[in-house]
Amino acid sequence: MPIVKIHGMIDPHTHLRDLDWSNKATFTSETQAAIASGYWAVFDMPNTAPSTTDEARLDDKLKRLDGGAHCDWGVYFGASQIDNSAEYERIASRVCGLKIYNNSTTGDLLISRQTDRERHYGAWSTNKVIAVHAEEETVSAILSLVRKYRQPTHFLHISSAYEINLLTKAKADGLPVSIGVCPHHLFLTIDDLASLGPYGLMKPELKTKRDQQALWQAIESGLVDVIESDHAPHTFAEKESANPPYGVPGLETTLPLMLRAVQDGRLPLDQAINMQSLNVQRIWRISPLPKTYTLVDTDHSYIIERGSLRAKCGWSPFEGLRAYGKILEVWIRGHLVFDGENVLSPPGFGRNLFGLVA
Ligand code: DOR
Ligand code: ZN
Repeated sequence: MPIVKIHGMIDPHTHLRDLDWSNKATFTSETQAAIASGYWAVFDMPNTAPSTTDEARLDDKLKRLDGGAHCDWGVYFGASQIDNSAEYERIASRVCGLKIYNNSTTGDLLISRQTDRERHYGAWSTNKVIAVHAEEETVSAILSLVRKYRQPTHFLHISSAYEINLLTKAKADGLPVSIGVCPHHLFLTIDDLASLGPYGLMKPELKTKRDQQALWQAIESGLVDVIESDHAPHTFAEKESANPPYGVPGLETTLPLMLRAVQDGRLPLDQAINMQSLNVQRIWRISPLPKTYTLVDTDHSYIIERGSLRAKCGWSPFEGLRAYGKILEVWIRGHLVFDGENVLSPPGFGRNLFGLVA
């Protein structure tokens, strides 16, 4: 049985919900799902209800995570349309980065005017990551700000050949950019929409086979830095409604699908693992923690099924797909927090990887 040790698995792109959206997911339910999937830490996006856009809301979220999280965590602050950049100096030490939404999606954080985006870039004076939701030509608009302000910028959920071309050039020019890709864009295409219906709706949307191929090539060439889930759970009722929201869960299927890609010969095992651990630590400047690792049996094969998922929403867009990997043990700071069956860390065990809780 090939048992592999992963040092410090992190998902830097999750929507843990809770607060006024605890019907979709809670800090407790999703951090338990994260631990059972091998993660040391998960970073939470700011498009919650309410959105994380001022110091009081940030403090409230930090306190709740501090009391409820089973694994370690980070929190993004959200740039908002009504300028909140005056808050940055006060909050920067406690967050994993700034998130700027430049295309429309779930939540109320869209910033569509370039002058507003620039104000946020200019005001973010730490060297912590700016994580951007930017699709297609918006990627160019953000790259012009990276060129001017030189802030380290992580392009979340890159999904098309066009975007890959732009970012290939940006990296060749030496700009401080990193690239995240999600399993749903690697394993699903628009051809799956007919069978998935609302469960295949997310932003950025599913793309063509050609786009999917460009993503795999970008992984093969080493251009892609991170595989992130964009875990964005919604309830069955919401997905079945007349206006289904965008977003799909993915925390529990990200490593298993990437291990399948390894089994399929698409990429080496160490690269798959680094894209979910070392590369994330490098980009978000996290020092490796001693005695913090995951043991996984990479040969274990199974079919993704509803019944075996722990995230609160209870479904996956990948149901029916073959995946690989059984998590045997997860250790955080010398504590066994998952024994292959049970989450052993209590709520509140998890710590903010980015500074003190207020
Ligand atoms: O599909 C998505 N869902 N894309 C996003 O950018 C946000 C997310 C959500 O919060 O539901
Ligand atoms: Zn997201």
